[in-house]
Amino acid sequence: MATAPFTVAIDGPAAAGKGTIGRAVAAHFGFAHLDTGLLYRAVGAQVLTGRDPIEAAQALEPSALENPALRTADVAQAASKVAVIPEVRAALLDFQRAFARRAGGAVLDGRDICTVICPQAEAKLFVTASAEVRAQRRWKELQERGQNVDYEQVLEDVRVRDARDSERATAPLRPADTAFVLDTSELAIDAAIARAIAVVEAKRGLSV
Ligand code: C5P
Repeated sequence: MATAPFTVAIDGPAAAGKGTIGRAVAAHFGFAHLDTGLLYRAVGAQVLTGRDPIEAAQALEPSALENPALRTADVAQAASKVAVIPEVRAALLDFQRAFARRAGGAVLDGRDICTVICPQAEAKLFVTASAEVRAQRRWKELQERGQNVDYEQVLEDVRVRDARDSERATAPLRPADTAFVLDTSELAIDAAIARAIAVVEAKRGLSV
């Protein structure tokens, strides 16, 4: 029997570890997981082929999220550019809200999940780390995938994306007042995951 909805909302800047933490929290509780950055990446990827961003967002199919080509640095920058367009954000809203309230529980990670998409989420986290630590992690990840990039360039990309995500008028990146702030700058990933699970566990206790 499916259990009642329970939403874990996770926000944070690029490469703070929220995807890894989100996946681990979902696996631990048996919840579904949505990396909402993939929605913006899928729209950004289509814009790079010349498509109109609003049209691409309105026609987006969930199957488009499975494309491994969405993980490149160029697509990340294109994603953060389309993400400033209010009509693009509006077109992606219903899908995210429906996912959040599905039976059996859901974890969503992104930039505006606690503040705009699911302000009523049962558990809210803001996962962050210094720009240097995040760039170092992203650089290593890209190296492991065979993408040979310069660390300084990755750091610059992180800073540009941080600024664009935090300074935009619609749904800017910021910690919700009620979110638990998890700074992973000096935490190993296993410790960060354990901390996040404990936060959700405490909220689960309150909601049953
Ligand atoms: O999380 P990820 O790096 O894949 O996100 C790519 C871009 O999509 C971000 O830089 C941000 O501009 C945008 N985004 C957003 N809102 C979300 C998730 C991602 O604006 N909920």
